[in-house]
Amino acid sequence: MTILPATFDAKLFRENSETVLAKLEKHLADQSLRGLELSDPARLIAAARALMTEEREKIADFDEEKLAAIVDLYLATGIQVHSPSYMGRQFSGVVPLAGVIDFVSSVVNQPSSFYEAGQLPNAVERIMADELNSFIGWPAGSFAMVTTSGGSLANLTALLAARNRAFPDYWSHGGAALAGGARPAIAVGADVHYSVSRAAGVMGIGEEQIVRLPLDRDYRIDPAQARSALDRAARTGLRVFCLVASAGTTSVGAFDPIGELADLAHERDCWLHVDGAHGASLLVSDELRGALRGIAEADSLTWDAHKMMFVPAPCTLLFYRNREHSLAAFRQQASYVFDEEPDIYAALDSGGKNFECTKRPMIMTLWALWAIYGRALFAEKIEYLCGLTRDAYEILEATPDFETVHRPEANILCFRHRPAGLSEEAVHRFQVAVRSRVKHQGKFFISKVDVDGVAALRVVMMNHETTTAHFRLLLTEIRKAGRELLHAGAASR
Ligand SMILES: Cc1ncc(COP(=O)(O)O)c(C=O)c1O
Repeated sequence: MTILPATFDAKLFRENSETVLAKLEKHLADQSLRGLELSDPARLIAAARALMTEEREKIADFDEEKLAAIVDLYLATGIQVHSPSYMGRQFSGVVPLAGVIDFVSSVVNQPSSFYEAGQLPNAVERIMADELNSFIGWPAGSFAMVTTSGGSLANLTALLAARNRAFPDYWSHGGAALAGGARPAIAVGADVHYSVSRAAGVMGIGEEQIVRLPLDRDYRIDPAQARSALDRAARTGLRVFCLVASAGTTSVGAFDPIGELADLAHERDCWLHVDGAHGASLLVSDELRGALRGIAEADSLTWDAHKMMFVPAPCTLLFYRNREHSLAAFRQQASYVFDEEPDIYAALDSGGKNFECTKRPMIMTLWALWAIYGRALFAEKIEYLCGLTRDAYEILEATPDFETVHRPEANILCFRHRPAGLSEEAVHRFQVAVRSRVKHQGKFFISKVDVDGVAALRVVMMNHETTTAHFRLLLTEIRKAGRELLHAGAASR
């Protein structure tokens, strides 16, 4: 067999896949405490370069050992989402089977913006839209859902739809459509994810056109103060066309009061977008759904399945309450892809509604897990993680050298270590230094965030193998780091 056909050979493909699967099995079975071991970038680049063939003229022979070395290097570096000591970020420890489905997607390569290329992905998008809407509550057939590559892009897409609804000539005339009128603006909670202000920037909405709404003591938008802020914005000539609520802020996992904000938005003819990238998944749990009370009143919702639905990234769902609005973000003609008179096939295309032309059939992983295991897989895992986070909070409350900074509403918990001898002025720097030292100790991966301007340690419980025993071990590790820092005299003054 010459080499080109061999690279596509089905039997070799299976044999090589089995080698890789065996490595993944070992990787998944390793439940040791592994933090984030940061490799020196220069060394990692050198190690990767050393794996490259020197052959330039013809296709190099397949080298089984090289494939094994590539996979080993991949597994050894980077974030260890399957370790029980991984508590650092919102990246998901995926259900491994979802990885297998993603593997199929990669091999069959059926992009999903158009039904004719990706038939099953487009068909099951309809099924998942209906399944998940059963927790939102919109009437069948009245709403729409489109998948898109990440929560950031979903937020941008929803804001575009909101802007085009409020300023119908904007798409064709650009900024000239506003001549002499009020300036477009959006209103966001002070803790909104940066992707929202970035999306505003992309749309030509300057920082001064972003109305930041004050938060209450629980880090949620305060509706009364929001009302005054919107009044003030209107007096300065801003037309707030979209209010963005967060369902699970990135920093502390706070849920804005969606129902009250929906009333406020509707009163002012303003679109309500809910950024539920992190927390929308709580909807599938009977126990936790209440955090998103009022969600059926929102105009659009961003829902990252690659966070709390435990499938590979990206897998984001963008919902619209009014199905017509799903066509509002982009208003283009392109005869090579968009049919003037869609038939029953083209009616399932999402290309007119999402930014991507070639789009990963991301829904396949979510649908396959849902089809095989059903909703309870997700509900049970999310309930466990949120319960674990509440238990961790109680542990901290009962531990004098730690301070909680909020009561967790989901699976994100921020706190500070305050050992005796730490001066008040040093608290901020101390948390930053502790986090960095814990990271370098290599057993736990946690993050940090500023809360009320002072750094806090942050855990995001994403792995159901993590228990309160692991959390107590983490506290021991933090104390050890703290002692060493205090001993060295750094950060204590
Ligand atoms: C609340 C919130 N919105 C949006 C995003 C961005 O989502 P993505 O990383 O999928 O682009 C994040 C990511 O952490 C988030 O926490």
